[in-house]
Amino acid sequence: MELRVRTAKGFEVKIRDFEVVDIRRVMEIEVDSSLDGDAGLYLELQDEWPEGFLVAEREGRVVGFIVVILTPEGEGRVFSLAVDSRFRGRGVGRVLLKAAFGVLRKRKIWYVELEVRVSNSIAMGLYNRMGFMEVGFFPYYYKDGEGAILMKKVL
Ligand SMILES: CC(C)(COP(=O)(O)OP(=O)(O)OC[C@H]1O[C@@H](n2cnc3c(N)ncnc32)[C@H](O)[C@@H]1OP(=O)(O)O)[C@@H](O)C(=O)NCCC(=O)NCCS
Repeated sequence: MELRVRTAKGFEVKIRDFEVVDIRRVMEIEVDSSLDGDAGLYLELQDEWPEGFLVAEREGRVVGFIVVILTPEGEGRVFSLAVDSRFRGRGVGRVLLKAAFGVLRKRKIWYVELEVRVSNSIAMGLYNRMGFMEVGFFPYYYKDGEGAILMKKVL
C-alpha cells in the first residue's frame, strides 16, 4: 500500500509498506521507545506477512511504524507500534493504526487485540479513543516484571 494522509492535526505523512532498507530506522525508533523487539524478528514478520508491516514516512525519513500479525484464531494483533519521539502527538500513531485496520478488514478480519504496559497511559488513552476495550490483564508479562493490559476492538 502507499497512501498520502494528513492527520487530524494537519501533519502530512506517507503510509507505505515496510521495505528491508527501513530496518535501521525502525530499530532506532524501537530502541528509543524502549520496546523489546529485535531486527531478526521484524524481518521474519515482514517475510511472513508483508502487508502487515507499515511505515510512516515524512520527507523521505521513516518517522513511525506498525506491525500487525494474524493470530492462530484468525484475529489481528498489533505486535508493535512506535513513533519517533520528535514526531509524537501529531496524529501519526492514529493514522498508522487506521491504515493497519484497513489491511485487516480487507482480509475480512473483524477483531484486533493488543497488549499494553500498565504504565503506558499515553498509548492506552489513544487505544481507548480508537475504540479498544480492556478485556484482560497479564501480571508480570514483560521481561522487567511489569503487567500488561489486553485490549480488544471490533473492526
Ligand atoms: C503510543 C505512540 C505510538 C503514539 O504515537 P503518536 O504519533 O504520538 O500518536 P497520536 O499523535 O496519534 O496520538 C497520541 C495521543 O496521545 C496524546 N499525547 C501525546 N503525547 C502526550 C503526552 N506527552 N502526554 C499526554 N498525552 C499525550 C495526544 O494528545 C494524542 O491524543 P489525541 O489523539 O486525543 O489528540 C507513541 O507515543 C510511541 O511511540 N510511544 C512509545 C512506544 C509505545 O508505547 N508504543 C505502544 C506500545 S503498546
